[in-house]
Amino acid sequence: MFEYDPFSDEVMQDPHPIYKRLRAEAPVYYIEKYDAWALSRFKDIWDCSSHKAFSAARGTTSSQVLTKVQPVTPMLNTMDPPDHTKLRTAIRPRFARAAMAGMEPTVRSIVTECLDKVVDRGRFDVIGDLAGKLSVKVTCLAVGIPVEDGDRLSDLVWRFFGREPGVDGMTPDGLAAAQELTDYFVQLVADRDRSGSDDDDVVNALRNFELDGERFSPEDIASHLTLLIIGGSETFPKTFANAIYRLWEHPGQRRQLVADPSAIDAAFLESVRYDMPTQFLCRTLTEDVELRGKTMKKDSGILFLYPSANRDEEEFENPDVFDIARKPQRILSFGAGTHACLGLFVAKMEGRVCLEETLARIPEYEVDVEKLKRLRTEFVQGFASLPICF
Ligand code: HEM
Repeated sequence: MFEYDPFSDEVMQDPHPIYKRLRAEAPVYYIEKYDAWALSRFKDIWDCSSHKAFSAARGTTSSQVLTKVQPVTPMLNTMDPPDHTKLRTAIRPRFARAAMAGMEPTVRSIVTECLDKVVDRGRFDVIGDLAGKLSVKVTCLAVGIPVEDGDRLSDLVWRFFGREPGVDGMTPDGLAAAQELTDYFVQLVADRDRSGSDDDDVVNALRNFELDGERFSPEDIASHLTLLIIGGSETFPKTFANAIYRLWEHPGQRRQLVADPSAIDAAFLESVRYDMPTQFLCRTLTEDVELRGKTMKKDSGILFLYPSANRDEEEFENPDVFDIARKPQRILSFGAGTHACLGLFVAKMEGRVCLEETLARIPEYEVDVEKLKRLRTEFVQGFASLPICF
């Protein structure tokens, strides 16, 4: 029997060969070291995402459920129904598809501003100069955080996700950055309390939200806002850089998009399916669950191996082929069920607008393969820097 360890060098180098073996030979795989089960099949993850025994209350990250170095603070993604449902219902309208139309012109102008600064140079870093800046600002816009604080918040999120060789999971600097994010948001809430702001935004929805007749403390609100800034700003740049990279690898498909930008929506989704940055998110079982003949015991951890699910040959035809013409019924890049991504429409609009503007101005480009940098951690993979020249 082969071994799967999410922290192994083999998995960090290229997880897909081992995900393929897991799907074929051990789709419900027990990792003894962490008392956790890794699920790698699309159908299993999809179904378990709505199953009440799969609790998020003990955390969802590797640092919370596997190495247990990161404390679990109350955030939307670490709540279970019914409280989770109440809070999600209160803030969801701000993330609805209809709310995106109002944001799109501002998002387009942020993209244009970023591109204006770099097009004459003939090269730029897709993450540092464009998608990283954009995603933090767009999340600030969506949530009601001052956009001018975007760069500062972006630094903190970067540190939060930093990893060091020899340290499994979050580093002390990452934990310090988490505290600084909390401090920033506690201050933001205090400023709102002082000014008596009644803006219709997520910050105020959190300030006004009551659970069993009680309001959140400033620290609780800070915790929820931390999730939003991290969820909103960390994944998008990697996803966008992957799209740029794959379209460089497949120039025929890129030219098709330049000629027909209406296909950009589907192309962005295909790149999110093909290269999902988050390797897994976790749950903890509140009761024994049987799956494919295995009994997963109460209190065991669970890993939803989303990138594996997105390459499941039982769900997708030729899953290892990048094909922008693919029209999948469903993908798992934004999760599913109870904790499905709240920012789905934000991410899709941001991805479409950013690809439309980038390909319109830079239809032909080369990736500077010598200078690109990859981030390889057990939790999130992808490019840390993706320089392109044109
Ligand atoms: C390409 C970009 C994005 C990807 C790939 C992505 C992916 C995901 C995934 C896989 C989950 C499920 C988490 C789980 O299983 O525990 C999730 C949840 C979530 N995402 Fe996203 N996300 C993206 C962008 C965003 C944006 C832009 C925002 C906000 C502005 C956002 C906010 C959230 C929140 C709040 C949750 C937790 C929802 C809940 O627990 O009910 N995401 N996201």
